[in-house]
Amino acid sequence: MPFDHFDILAPIYERVIPAAAIESILTQLAPTPNCRLLDAGGGTGRVSGYLQEHVGSVVLSDISMGMLKQAAEKDNLQPACALTETMPFADDFFDCVLLVDALHHVNDQAETARELWRIVKPGGRIVIQEPDIGTVAVKLIAIMEKVTLMRSHFLAPQAIVELFLFDGANVDMHTEEFNVWVIVEKAAL
Ligand SMILES: C[S@@+](CC[C@H](N)C(=O)[O-])C[C@H]1O[C@@H](n2cnc3c(N)ncnc32)[C@H](O)[C@@H]1O
Repeated sequence: MPFDHFDILAPIYERVIPAAAIESILTQLAPTPNCRLLDAGGGTGRVSGYLQEHVGSVVLSDISMGMLKQAAEKDNLQPACALTETMPFADDFFDCVLLVDALHHVNDQAETARELWRIVKPGGRIVIQEPDIGTVAVKLIAIMEKVTLMRSHFLAPQAIVELFLFDGANVDMHTEEFNVWVIVEKAAL
């Protein structure tokens, strides 16, 4: 297995990365109390660890065993080792899907978008939060990640939207401070 930055970072990840904007995430996600949530590229559960009480169940998928080990220590998260590009879930399986701070890390962003779209139910929602590469702070982070060989690939906000322009998709995008939010709704049948 190749060197994985997140395996090394995992034990200290939540101490060095700022807390997630849980209220904003809940607003964008608008979960129902019994909904089935997937936190894709969910890492240690920094985000979904706080969402369990608002949803019916949470699956957290990631490829870093170090990150998954941290997630497994949180109550009520179901960790799954899975690439976002090849998800081991049935079509239309989740009511809502979250991808926070992970799209720029995956190997294939278009394939990831297709998989998230495939596994979300009609009437369901995908919420993507990414650092906004249009801001100076995130440009500096991108340089730092390049120097440390993280192979990140940041997309401009409109390019993220274009990944999700599937038939039946209603895609909304806005930026907020250093983040871009893309909300994808799958039309109900
Ligand atoms: C910056 S962390 C974000 C973790 C979490 N979403 C959060 O906001 O705390 C990015 C995560 O994406 C995972 N990741 C990277 N590429 C992936 C892929 N192709 N499939 C699944 N997870 C991936 C990494 O292992 C890492 O845990």
